[in-house]
Formats: sequence, structure tokens, C-alpha cells
Amino acid sequence: MSPLKTPMLALVAAAALVAGCSSMHSAPPAPKAVLVDGQQPIPADYKSWPKFLSAVQRPDAKQVREIYMNAAAAKAVRGQPIPQGAIYVMENYAAAANEDGSLQKSPDGHLVKGKLLAVFLMEKNEGWGQAVEEPLRTGNWIYTAYTGAGEKSPVDLNTCRACHIPLGAGKDWVHRYDQYFDQKKSALPAHEVLASLNAGSTSLSAQDLRAVGTLQR
Ligand code: HEC
Repeated sequence: MSPLKTPMLALVAAAALVAGCSSMHSAPPAPKAVLVDGQQPIPADYKSWPKFLSAVQRPDAKQVREIYMNAAAAKAVRGQPIPQGAIYVMENYAAAANEDGSLQKSPDGHLVKGKLLAVFLMEKNEGWGQAVEEPLRTGNWIYTAYTGAGEKSPVDLNTCRACHIPLGAGKDWVHRYDQYFDQKKSALPAHEVLASLNAGSTSLSAQDLRAVGTLQR
């Protein structure tokens, strides 16, 4: 027997959940004061945000990185610019080392997170990012860096721009743009499941059900 005999019921239930979600977020965002590089505070609640990517392995830099995104960034659609209001918070951890200097590995071969070295922020809003000269502009993005202790980092923020510029408008200057959407696709986002239901698909896999379940969180 199929796990769900009545896909229409599931569709109605899921659609009701979607409608409930969108009505909660319907108020237009208040216009934000224009900030420039170095002025972003660390968002107090960022650790409760969804992960953009988890445990990014950087053996070359001897680091492990955790990248969080706010709700605006989580609405990003492949092939389109990241929505205005998006914020990414990237934690840069030292990869834990053995006494001989080699990097420690977990049983599954991953680097082990050590000390928090830095917190890097990117945020975009309408009209932001214009305080720097054209060759250094990356759309509406601005950049801020903190030390692991939460103090403003003395790093030259134009170096952030210089390394994000090559990504270009096509990836909205976000390095892991493609990897993020590839990973998201393999996790089958709920809206794609709904789209396939709307397209007349009559059987739901266990994976589809899990994806619909994510709407409820
Ligand atoms: C040498 C190149 C380089 C420099 C300099 C650099 N970045 Fe990045 N940045 C990357 C790469 C590569 C990633 C993707 C994650 C990874 O592989 O570590 C990234 C990712 C990010 C992300 C997560 C979103 C994304 O693009 O994937 C943020 C936020 C970020 N950087 C902010 C900063 C800030 C702030 C600075 C300056 C203090 C900075 N970066 C400097 C290369 C750079």
C-alpha cells in the first residue's frame, strides 16, 4: 500500500501550511539605514538561523567554517540574485591539530573544529555597497569582520571584496552559491514537492513526505 492514499489531502494540508507561513511574513520590511563595510553588528540570534552550509572543510586554510543565513537569504532562488535583506554569518574555526602539526580527523574523515578564529558577515540591502569605488563594488553587499572574541577585526575589508568580486553578479558574489543550491536540491525542498503534486503526481515517496514535513518546522 502506498504511504499516502490520498495525495490531494496532503496537498490541501501542505497548502494550508504554506498560506499560514506567508501571512505571517506579509508586512513589508521597514527601510534600513545605509550601513557601510565594518558597521554590521553580529546578529544576536544567528546561531538559531538555518545553515547555508555546514562544516565547510578548508584543509588548505587549516579551518572549518559554519555558514548561517537569515530568513531573507533562505528565500534565495537559483539563477536569481539573493534577496535584499539577506545576511550571511560565517564562523571560521581553526582545524584542531595533532602534536606533530597534522590536522585531526574525525572517524568519517572530516576536520575537527578547534578555536573560533573569526566571524565574517555579509549583508545586502537596497542602495548599500555604493560607498566604495566601482572596481570594488559587489552589488549591494557590505562586509564586516570580527575576531573570535567578538571584537572588530583590524583586517582591511577591501580584501573581502577583492576575493568575492570574481564570483560576479551571476552568483551574486557568493562563493558557495552553486554548492548551496546543489545541496538544497538533493534535500528536496518542500516547494518542489508541492510543485510536483500540482503537476499531477499521485505517489509520494518517503523523501517527499519528509520534505512536506519541513514546512511544519
Ligand atoms: C581569499 C579569498 C577570500 C577572502 C579574502 C574573503 N573571502 Fe569570504 N569567502 C571565500 C570563500 C572561498 C568562501 C566560501 C567558503 C569557504 O570555502 O571557506 C567565502 C565565503 C564567505 C561568506 C559566506 C557566503 C559565501 O560567499 O559563500 C561570507 C559571509 C564571507 N565569505 C565574508 C567575508 C568577509 C567579511 C571577508 C573579509 C573580512 C571575506 N569573506 C574575505 C573567500 C574569501
